[in-house]
Amino acid sequence: MKLWGGRFQEGPSEVFERFGRSLHFDRRLLDCDIRGSQAFARALEGVGILTGEERARIVEALEQIRLEARNPGFEADAADEDVHTLVIRKLQERAGAVAGKIHTGRSRNEQVSLDVRLWLRQECDRARGLLAALMGSLVELAARYPDAVIPGYTHLRRAQAVLWPHYLLAYFEMFARDWERLGEARRRANVMPLGSGALAGSGFPFDRQALARDLGFASVTANSMDVSADRDFALDFLYAASTTLLHLSRLAEDWILYSSEEFGWMDLGEGVTSGSSLMPQKKNPDSLELIRGKSGRVVGCLHSLLMTMKGLPLTYNRDMQEDKEPLFEAADQLSGSLEMARVVVDSATLRPAVPAAAAAESWVVATDLAEALARAGTPFHQAHQLVGRLVLASLQAGKKPADWSAAELAAFAPEFTSGFARLLSPAEGMKSREIPGGTGPGAVAAALEEARERLKRMAA
Ligand code: ARG
Repeated sequence: MKLWGGRFQEGPSEVFERFGRSLHFDRRLLDCDIRGSQAFARALEGVGILTGEERARIVEALEQIRLEARNPGFEADAADEDVHTLVIRKLQERAGAVAGKIHTGRSRNEQVSLDVRLWLRQECDRARGLLAALMGSLVELAARYPDAVIPGYTHLRRAQAVLWPHYLLAYFEMFARDWERLGEARRRANVMPLGSGALAGSGFPFDRQALARDLGFASVTANSMDVSADRDFALDFLYAASTTLLHLSRLAEDWILYSSEEFGWMDLGEGVTSGSSLMPQKKNPDSLELIRGKSGRVVGCLHSLLMTMKGLPLTYNRDMQEDKEPLFEAADQLSGSLEMARVVVDSATLRPAVPAAAAAESWVVATDLAEALARAGTPFHQAHQLVGRLVLASLQAGKKPADWSAAELAAFAPEFTSGFARLLSPAEGMKSREIPGGTGPGAVAAALEEARERLKRMAA
């Protein structure tokens, strides 16, 4: 069926029909399309196009279609252009001639905007729930090893010692921002477009506020041309999904490294790793590699829609039908990756002695020593030079920090008074970093507590 055709003498070519059809992917909007049409039937009653009896018949028929759509073979006979056409044809089959009134004063341009907004609202809620669950798992993993010391890295070179919970809470912060971004994407989607018509505003005086209330929208859109032309709300979601996947990909990369034989810091559960068809000894971090891989696809979805929208003349253009596949794809990869990441986090175990040894045998304490010198009155630049010379001498002599006694330190330079030897242990120096946001043990314990409080507020 088509929702147009009067001005044509010939039907579309078979190739064009196949090329332009979107039903195989926008079928996914069916529930939202039906909800929208049920509300629209009530609006049509409000402007006197439908009687109360007709409205009830349409709403009921749409309800039946919604249920019927769950059965296999529902659209086996469907030659319809898109989901909107399919629903209207099914409505005609069920409700008869009155179905011909459902599209009064309505365009598919606003209808598709409405459907995608309704669908995106749900997706944002789902993704935020999964994100909060992942953040909860990170907090639990942090709390299992509250005192574990690891080397923190810059340039993938050991830099300064940090607590394991401090490291995990860095990801907590990234995901907290993603959670907010998804909330913002939801707010942007949560605006009701019906009443815009094709582009000029509907010719029927619908109570748009009532429609918004009916469908649970926070407000109504302000400009009908904007509605037909706009896909920002989809882009906002794709951007939020992209940053989330980007953060997941960095966590994945860290843990692929940290669970390798070379690092040996942590073990991933057997349930999230794979063997090799050829090499019997292998235990590969495929789950994390897939998360890393899917991040590229999701960022690609964002690019895809940005490119589709760039330079389009106002208002609606059929190019915009190309928004849905990247949107659906990104939403699926987002929820799948969040779910997977949580299972990986729950399966992970740290071997705290290994990163602690990595921290102890390198010079991650160098900054602590230099800053202690500066606190004792040595200008920092000089302190930096002095500790640099200590590191050089150690490297030349094959000495680790712990190999220095207090007396040897003092002999190396008189500035190293008796208190300095203590700072050769990575766990000690970090006690000077009790600044909010720092890795001081007190600051981290408070941050962990605060993270738990935030999770509670997120759930509320
Ligand atoms: N399937 C179309 C889409 O997704 C619906 C809008 C069709 N509007 C039109 N003027 N052809 O964009």
